[in-house]
Amino acid sequence: MTTTASETLTRRSFLESAAKTAAAGAALSQLPVERMVHAADNDTVTIALVGCGGRGTGAASQALSTMGPVRLVAVADAFKDRLEGSLNGLKRQFDKKVEVGEEQKFVGLNAYKEAIKLADVVILTTPPGFRPYHFAEAVRQGKHVFMEKPVAVDAHGVRMVLEAAQEAKKKNLKVGVGLQRHHQAGYIETVKRLQDGELGEITSMRSYWNGGGVWDPRKTREQVGSELEYQLQNWYYYVWLSGDHICEQHIHNLDVINWVKGFKYPVAAQGMGGRQVRIDKKYGEIFDHHFVEFEYADGSRNYSQCRHIHGCFSSVSEYVTGTKGHANVGGHTLVDFKGKLLWRHEGKAKDPYQVEHDRLFDAVRNNKPHNEAERGALSSLTSILGRLATFTGQRVTWDQAMNSKIVTMPDDIDYDDGVWKGTPPTKPNAQGEYPIAVPGNPEWFKRLI
Ligand SMILES: NC(=O)c1ccc[n+]([C@@H]2O[C@H](COP(=O)([O-])OP(=O)(O)OC[C@H]3O[C@@H](n4cnc5c(N)ncnc54)[C@H](O)[C@@H]3O)[C@@H](O)[C@H]2O)c1
Repeated sequence: MTTTASETLTRRSFLESAAKTAAAGAALSQLPVERMVHAADNDTVTIALVGCGGRGTGAASQALSTMGPVRLVAVADAFKDRLEGSLNGLKRQFDKKVEVGEEQKFVGLNAYKEAIKLADVVILTTPPGFRPYHFAEAVRQGKHVFMEKPVAVDAHGVRMVLEAAQEAKKKNLKVGVGLQRHHQAGYIETVKRLQDGELGEITSMRSYWNGGGVWDPRKTREQVGSELEYQLQNWYYYVWLSGDHICEQHIHNLDVINWVKGFKYPVAAQGMGGRQVRIDKKYGEIFDHHFVEFEYADGSRNYSQCRHIHGCFSSVSEYVTGTKGHANVGGHTLVDFKGKLLWRHEGKAKDPYQVEHDRLFDAVRNNKPHNEAERGALSSLTSILGRLATFTGQRVTWDQAMNSKIVTMPDDIDYDDGVWKGTPPTKPNAQGEYPIAVPGNPEWFKRLI
């Protein structure tokens, strides 16, 4: 890569500040600094991966495919087998770009703190319940971050992320959030045209994540040592870890609508949902369908559906209606009310997962502004608001959701020397069944908001 002297200086000073933080961390952990910090004497950007699952492995591979010298230098996961599986795959693919010895592998619930110390950029891809805590720690340690969506599963987590996002700005840290549609040319151009008024005033919006769902629970009770481990293995089915699929997946579509609205967020939501098909106790406590009407300050509404039921109508998409016609936002087309095509995005699509990492690493190397944390947090709150509306069956306002004092993450969970300790907030009865939210029940309202 050709660079100018000033670019090199800028980049070096950036990396040095990250390296200094890493050196301070290394002193604390008494590990030899020179083995861990590559950034101080060259342009190599070092990476730590926290959460070595499907997406974490993918994100690390995208980070290792960015321009300029990069090295993966630390990995952390709650489970050793997940860590090893991911690392072996990355080593096969990237060979010398992976420099992770036994001392740079960290297992357990506090593993993230050690891994974060060793790198310039950290990738946070655990279940999202942990994200606010990991993000706050990364910012505290002065590290650049790529974190997956959602960035929180409750209002407490959203507030933590908003606070850390401000801190990150002060420290000039770069933060990418895995809402990759913002890095997809077709979306960018469609949203711009809508914001420029090509369809007139936007009067209504629709968004969908309807499909068959994700993986079935990975472990049975008999295969694990404790309820905590059981829930961590099968994290998707527990609200404190995933936020429910309305947060986990549908956030993408809700976020697109917030974007179309010019980064304005709903003022209230009401909806309905439940467990119709996925009712076995192994499916924890989340719903299998939600319908939510999100209300914006200008009176327009986003009619949102998300469903995890096989054999039904499937769609992952967003649509917008204006005073002059309709847009298929994900299909990148505008039509008039007679269905005549007004515009279609042309051009070869670049992989948005790669583009989001290219932009983040370019910002890190060349000191360009890049901080997606705040809007990631506000779109996360949008999906939490939707869940609160369907779980309670009430109209819930944005302010009620944002100011909720409920903290879903327990403060006593830990993993030490092969033993999982602490109690998850959701507990099964003697038959292994979990309490499921009952819309309309005032007790549930108090429990949730
Ligand atoms: N942007 C996208 O399109 C996209 C696609 C897939 C997943 N994701 C997001 O990525 C995140 C991870 O999803 P996934 O599919 O990779 O899940 P996964 O289960 O495959 O991976 C999660 C990993 O985190 C580990 N883990 C759990 N708790 C941990 C902790 N406290 N500390 C360290 N490691 C911990 C698990 O053992 C597991 O290896 C989710 O937030 C998901 O929404 C985003």
